[in-house]
Amino acid sequence: MQRKFTYYTRVFGCQMNVADIDDLCARLAAHGGIVVETVDEAQLVLINTCTVRQKAEDKALSFFGSLKRLKSAAGGRNAPFVVAMGCVIPRARAHIEATFPYIDLLLDSSDPGVVFDALLERFPPLNGDVACQEYPPLLAAEHARQNFVTAIRGCDHKCSYCIVPYVRGKQRDVPLPQIVEEAQAWQRAGAPDITVLGQNILAYGQSSGSEHPRFCELMETLLKQTAFPWITYLTSLPGDLTEEVCERVIAHPRITPLLHLPVQSGSDKVLQDMQRGYDAAYYRRIVAKARAVRPDLYLTTDLLVGFPTETDEDYAATLALVNEIGFDDAFMFAYSPRPGTHAALNFAESLSLKEKRARLNDLISRQRQIAASRNERYLGQELEVIVEQQSKTGAVTRTAFNKPVYLQELKTPIGRYTRVRITGVKTSSFSGEEVQATGP
Ligand code: SAH
Ligand code: F3S
Repeated sequence: MQRKFTYYTRVFGCQMNVADIDDLCARLAAHGGIVVETVDEAQLVLINTCTVRQKAEDKALSFFGSLKRLKSAAGGRNAPFVVAMGCVIPRARAHIEATFPYIDLLLDSSDPGVVFDALLERFPPLNGDVACQEYPPLLAAEHARQNFVTAIRGCDHKCSYCIVPYVRGKQRDVPLPQIVEEAQAWQRAGAPDITVLGQNILAYGQSSGSEHPRFCELMETLLKQTAFPWITYLTSLPGDLTEEVCERVIAHPRITPLLHLPVQSGSDKVLQDMQRGYDAAYYRRIVAKARAVRPDLYLTTDLLVGFPTETDEDYAATLALVNEIGFDDAFMFAYSPRPGTHAALNFAESLSLKEKRARLNDLISRQRQIAASRNERYLGQELEVIVEQQSKTGAVTRTAFNKPVYLQELKTPIGRYTRVRITGVKTSSFSGEEVQATGP
């Protein structure tokens, strides 16, 4: 008989980390794992870490610190088995071992296959189990939230500020048949849609030789071999966004209108120092093309201010680009030097924390105004949504561009599509009412 055990997960960082933990949860569930809401109830604690900025790393370390009480209480007899994994570990293993000796297992990656094999060996309730062949991805489908399929691990790009290629390693493409199989498993499990992931998803196939299918073939194959009404892809490096991708993928009605296209800066000099591989003119041109083939495009971006070589004029160029393009949403960050990266080794920081914060705050308040006025175009519109949560007081749905829409009442069950009329818009969410289905 299978032994039951309880586990708790904590994820810091990007969607890739979430995807890996979702996959792990499915494996644990198939082997008797029961998810719990607090570390105190758990026999197994899994922490997936992020080191993209110092702040992200600090959060993970402080969470490690908070587990000490469990491990020291009653001599640690009922303490959970603690596993820390992901990007912080290869970077700071020695420091973690010295500071948090009570962590039972440190794993350099959060690759679910690797983590699960380690658990089979080291976590007593799983000792001796043999890994199942197929894992029903039921967990997330039940919740109808975004369901991720990883297409690429690692990154070959080496933007000068970025630690990701160092901690996640070189690009590895997941073979296309495996991606299709995973997508179909989501479909069988009742997931309403999928999101295909890669640090630069547009580079799909580029690390696997000239015969390997590329991004357009990946997306066209998924469109053909699944029936999802919505397929989303994240994240796109602007230099690899071509007219062909716009025409073959972005224009397709079953591809969602969400384009996450991190620009980082509006200054060509800074973009060059960041080794991003495109200039502001190319960015403008390709956005115009994407908008032309997809008039309902919902364009989001990442902006990084306070890069060491960024002068007042360079920052002004970023602000000008932001004003001109009109992003629907943006994730904005102040530069954080990451040990070992090209930028940290070659450019001394020229700005104080205060100066970086000032630019960041200025940018955030400008972008907020832009997003607010762009959101107004949805007022009164009818949008298709997926139902994510239902409760006595109302429901949460999400649009194809991943914006939550709150409703007071809703007849459609969780995980299904319905139509809503937008009655209110805020920066990060909408409110609306269900539109009664007409016709068959
Ligand atoms: N693969 C994605 C981004 C991965 S990291 C891309 O192609 O852009 C997510 C975001 O974090 C980046 O877009 C960048 O804006 C930000 N970021 C990365 N390294 C950073 C650093 N050292 N300091 C501050 N922000 C950083
Ligand atoms: Fe980082 Fe650039 Fe890759 S931001 S993840 S090195 S595309």
